[in-house]
Amino acid sequence: MLDRLQQEWKEGTNRFDQAGEILLLAMQNQQVVGVCGLNRDPYSNSDRVGRVRRLYVSADSRRTGIGRLLVDAIQLRCHGVFDELRLRTDTPAADAFYRALGFRRVEGDPDCTHLREIADR
Ligand SMILES: CC(C)(COP(=O)(O)OP(=O)(O)OC[C@H]1O[C@@H](n2cnc3c(N)ncnc32)[C@H](O)[C@@H]1OP(=O)(O)O)[C@@H](O)C(=O)NCCC(=O)NCCS
Repeated sequence: MLDRLQQEWKEGTNRFDQAGEILLLAMQNQQVVGVCGLNRDPYSNSDRVGRVRRLYVSADSRRTGIGRLLVDAIQLRCHGVFDELRLRTDTPAADAFYRALGFRRVEGDPDCTHLREIADR
């Protein structure tokens, strides 16, 4: 995942720099311990759908709330820009994580396993 993030950044194919997009880093003691990107969802026809991408928390720092912090911050950025946040993941741990954060599971969509509506503020 991190290799892909780095490669796409170098190639300039995804720098999370289009309208509404952002790449967040979580820092602890001047070290990067987590990363999470927000893209406009390229699999959706709507430009009001965001997509969580490249979420990764370093193994030593897991289960300390960093993933939640990153995704909460991403959701705050969605207000007024995206009505819905989608993603695709295939691990039981990530499934448990996203459901703990209030995402619901989506069945039968090859491009989306979890979804969360963004409420109006
Ligand atoms: C999934 C991932 C981002 C979670 O990050 P994290 O910082 O460990 O998550 P948090 O500490 O914020 O967890 C928040 C809640 O999610 C749930 N959760 C997180 N990891 C879980 C796991 N492995 N199993 C079950 N529940 C889990 C828990 O309810 C947790 O709250 P708790 O610790 O108080 O019980 C991290 O495990 C990771 O980087 N995994 C590898 C990459 C990956 O799978 N990325 C997602 C693909 S889109």
